[in-house]
Amino acid sequence: MLFDTSPKDNRKDFFDREKEIEKLKELRTPITLVLGLRRTGKSSLIKVSLNELNIPYIYLDLRKFEEESYISYKDFLLELQSEINRLYKRFTSILDFLKSIKGVSVMGNEIRFSWKREKVRFSDLLDMLEESFNKFIIVFDEAQELIKLRGINLTPVLAYVYDNLKNVKIIMSGSEMGLLYDFLKIEDPSSPLFGRFLSTVELKPFARHEAISFLKRGFDEVKIEFKDYDTVYETIGGIPGWLTYFGSVYLDTRNLKISIDKTLDYAKRLILREFENFLKGREVARKRYFVVMRTLVNCGKWSDVKHALEAEEGIEISDSEIHNYLRQLIRHSWIIKEGDRYCPAEPLIGYTFKASAF
Ligand SMILES: Nc1ncnc2c1ncn2[C@@H]1O[C@H](COP(=O)(O)OP(=O)(O)O)[C@@H](O)[C@H]1O
Ligand SMILES: [Mg+2]
Repeated sequence: MLFDTSPKDNRKDFFDREKEIEKLKELRTPITLVLGLRRTGKSSLIKVSLNELNIPYIYLDLRKFEEESYISYKDFLLELQSEINRLYKRFTSILDFLKSIKGVSVMGNEIRFSWKREKVRFSDLLDMLEESFNKFIIVFDEAQELIKLRGINLTPVLAYVYDNLKNVKIIMSGSEMGLLYDFLKIEDPSSPLFGRFLSTVELKPFARHEAISFLKRGFDEVKIEFKDYDTVYETIGGIPGWLTYFGSVYLDTRNLKISIDKTLDYAKRLILREFENFLKGREVARKRYFVVMRTLVNCGKWSDVKHALEAEEGIEISDSEIHNYLRQLIRHSWIIKEGDRYCPAEPLIGYTFKASAF
């Protein structure tokens, strides 16, 4: 069902995105990126594609580390361990190879990874996968979280996959594109991944006509009459996740105003929580980041931001500080730059900071 709010995993519940599915399924380069704002359907796109490809895979859902300030090597290994166990249940023949890897032990039917002295090396697991499968996919969902990983430098390992492995392909998704590129450092000559070409699938929010067809199809599916498509697009915008949420509430309430209000309220709560995650480690500038976001709810220029901050604090704030705040907000996909104006990355981010008292 289109208005089901969990990530989709098959095409019949997934609206359009035909080109994006086909492009992802090509896996044209050893590492493929899936980029797009939060809730544009990246995880769904990956799940639909994996299902259709029918290639064995492991799926590391890094979103669970969103609230953490760092990820230890142990956390990372435990995620891998659970995915390798899932894989092992289907492909028991990998056992012998697994057992030969340093730091791997088998207890009954469970594979255990050690993260202490004899710690499992990620590259050994990659070699095992390369040897054991003709084709294999590793998904890092919300891969920008890997920038918080301690105790292992992942970029040389990714470069190793890129340059040497034929069977193992990597898919990385990212909601915070600037951060993901900073992590991969493709343009940094001193980085192991320097100069590698990565095939990229980008999911844009739905344009007006797409958002309307999306809602139409959702309502047709459940045979409910609906006509206020324009109102919905104009208040909520084109992010598929918000439209899905709106649809599911409408099915329940059959009331336009209540459904819109509930969606706005839900979006605001989620967005503020995600903003709090962004502020972790930036506490000293917390108030300033809120002022910047509030100033930009209807877009604004550099000078608007400077005036607002200085008016708030009654002191001079240096250009480099302003530059840094804007840069961080762009890097984490809170705002986008259009010409000389800075705007919220999507309408409900604008709504959130307009509506929030702090
Ligand atoms: N093209 C689509 N068709 C149907 N539902 C979608 C589509 N894109 C996103 N959704 C829905 O929107 C929500 C967010 O999608 P998700 O795949 O979790 O996005 P992301 O991983 O980019 O944050 C989910 O409820 C998902 O079912
Ligand atoms: Mg996702």
